[in-house]
Amino acid sequence: MPATRLLLLSGLTVLAACPVQVYAAFDNTRFDNVAVYWGQNSYGATHSDTANFQKTLSTYCQDNAIDVIPIAFITTFFSTGGLPSLNLANTCNPVDNATFPGTNLANCASLASDIQFCQSKGKLVTLSLGGAGGGVGFTGDSQGQAFADTIWNLFLGGSSSTRPFGSAVLDGVDLDIEGGSGTGYAAFVNQIRSHAAGASKKYYITAAPQCVFPDASLGTVLNTASFDAVYVQFYNNPCGLQNFNSASNWDFGLWDAWARTTSPNPNVKIYIGAPASSTAAGGGYQAIGTLSSIAVQMRESFPSFGGVMLWDASQAFANGRYDLAIKNALAGAGGTGFTFPACAAPAFAAGSNYPGGSQVSFGGYVWQAKWFASAQPANNPNSDWSAISACTGSGASPTSSSSAPGSSPSAGSCAGVPAWTSTAVFTGGQQATFSGHLWTAKWWTQGDTPGGSAGVWTDDGACASTKGGISAAAAAATVGHAPVASTVEGKVSPSATAVAHPPATQTGTGSSSTAKADEQHTNVKRSRIFRA
Ligand SMILES: *[C@@H]1O[C@H](CO)[C@@H](O)[C@H](O)[C@H]1NC(C)=O
Repeated sequence: MPATRLLLLSGLTVLAACPVQVYAAFDNTRFDNVAVYWGQNSYGATHSDTANFQKTLSTYCQDNAIDVIPIAFITTFFSTGGLPSLNLANTCNPVDNATFPGTNLANCASLASDIQFCQSKGKLVTLSLGGAGGGVGFTGDSQGQAFADTIWNLFLGGSSSTRPFGSAVLDGVDLDIEGGSGTGYAAFVNQIRSHAAGASKKYYITAAPQCVFPDASLGTVLNTASFDAVYVQFYNNPCGLQNFNSASNWDFGLWDAWARTTSPNPNVKIYIGAPASSTAAGGGYQAIGTLSSIAVQMRESFPSFGGVMLWDASQAFANGRYDLAIKNALAGAGGTGFTFPACAAPAFAAGSNYPGGSQVSFGGYVWQAKWFASAQPANNPNSDWSAISACTGSGASPTSSSSAPGSSPSAGSCAGVPAWTSTAVFTGGQQATFSGHLWTAKWWTQGDTPGGSAGVWTDDGACASTKGGISAAAAAATVGHAPVASTVEGKVSPSATAVAHPPATQTGTGSSSTAKADEQHTNVKRSRIFRA
C-alpha cells in the first residue's frame, strides 16, 4: 500500500517552534527517514545508571523523530524445538520471561499494544534477525524458505499458536547478518516476498551490511534479492564516519552505484548507519553537527540516499535526543526531490596522471583520486577513484596537465624529506615520507600514522623520485596499494579500507576495532550485563 503523507502542521507557530514536519505514515521514497534499532539496551551494556536504560517501545514513538524501528534481535534461527530465539535484553528475553513450551522463544505478547501504538503513528516496526553474536545461517535454499515461513507465521501476516508479539503484525524483516555465508538468504527473502504479495499491507525487507563493500556475508544476497532499504553500518570499520573526509575510505558512492545499477530493486534506499553515542560502537561516532552535515551532503549528492539509521534507541535518548536532532537536520534538507548536481569537475582524460585528491567527472559521477591515479574511474572497491557525488553532464573540458583543482603537489618531491617515525614530532606544514608516499602534516602531530584514523596527514602522492625511472603511475600501482593493504593486518589502518582484506575487518578477533564492534553489537553480552 503506497503510503499517503498528510502534512499535519496546525499553523505557522507550530512550524516555527518545531522544525520536524509531521507526516501520517512512513514513506520509503523519502530522503529524511530515521530508522533506530530498539531491543538491545545498548546503553545498559556500558553504563550502570538504570534511569537511561532501554524504555518501553512506545516511549520511542511519542513524537515524529523516528520513522522505522527494527526490533533487535532474533538471535538464533533454530533453537530449542526448531523455533527461533528472541532476545530483547531488559525488555523481554528467554531467561527472565516465559517461553513457549518446548522452545527457547520468549513470549513477549505484552509488547503487542506498544507495537500497535507505534504503527498507529505511521511508523514501521520490523523484526531484525542476527546481530553481531547471532546464531544464524542456512544450510541451503530450502532451509531459508522454511525459515521464511516460520517468520511469516510467528511475526508477520501468517498465524501460529506461538506468536511472541501476540496479535501485533510486524511490518517486515531486517537482516543484520554479521557472520557466516549468504547461503539461503535470497531464498528467504523471496519466500517472504511471495507471502507478502497476497497480503493486505506492504511488508518491507531491509538489511544492515557493514560499510566494507561488498559485504562479507550478504554481498551476493544483496545482488540477487530485492530489498527496500539498506542500513549501511558506517562504523567499526575503516570506511566509517570517522573517515568521511578520506576518499580512500568513505565509500557511499559504491553503495549508491550498487543501488542504481546492480540491486534487483533500483529504487532501494541507502541509509547512513551511525552510532547514536560514543559508547554505542567501537568507532565512527560523530558529534551531531558533524553527522548532520555529512548526512545532508550525502542527501544532496546521491539519489539513493534514504536517511539515517542509528544504533540504538537507548543511546540516542541518553545522548540528548540524537535521533530528534538528526531528524531535524534531514527534514531541513528536504524530504522529497533530488536535483542532480552539475558535473563541475573536468571530464576524466584517458592517459592523464592525476595526483591524489584530484577530481574528475566521469559516467555520471564526480570522482576523487584516492592516490596517484591514471586508470579510468570504476565502481569497485579497488578503483583508484572514489565517487563523491552523482552528477549530470559530462564535465568541463579536461585540463591538459596532471594537476587538477584541489590537487596536491606532484609526485617526485620526496628527495631530502625525512621518513616518518612514530616518535618524531611534526608541526603543521612539515613533510615526511611513509609507505613510498610524500605526506604533509595538517597540524602538530606525534605518533599518528600517515593515512591513519587521526586524519592528520595529507597524502601528496607517491614518491616517483625514489623509484628511479618508474613513472609516477607505476609507482602508485606498486607502492600505493600493497603497503597500504598490508597495514591492515597489524594496525587496522583506516587507510587500508579492507579492499584487500574484507573478511579481516569484518570478522577480526583480538584487538581490532571490529572486534570491539562485535561486542557492542552482541545482544547476548548486553543482556548478560543487564542480568548480572
Ligand atoms: C520480562 O521480565 C522482566 C523481568 O521480570 C520484566 O520486567 C518484563 O516486564 C518482562 N517482559 C515482558 C514482555 O513480559
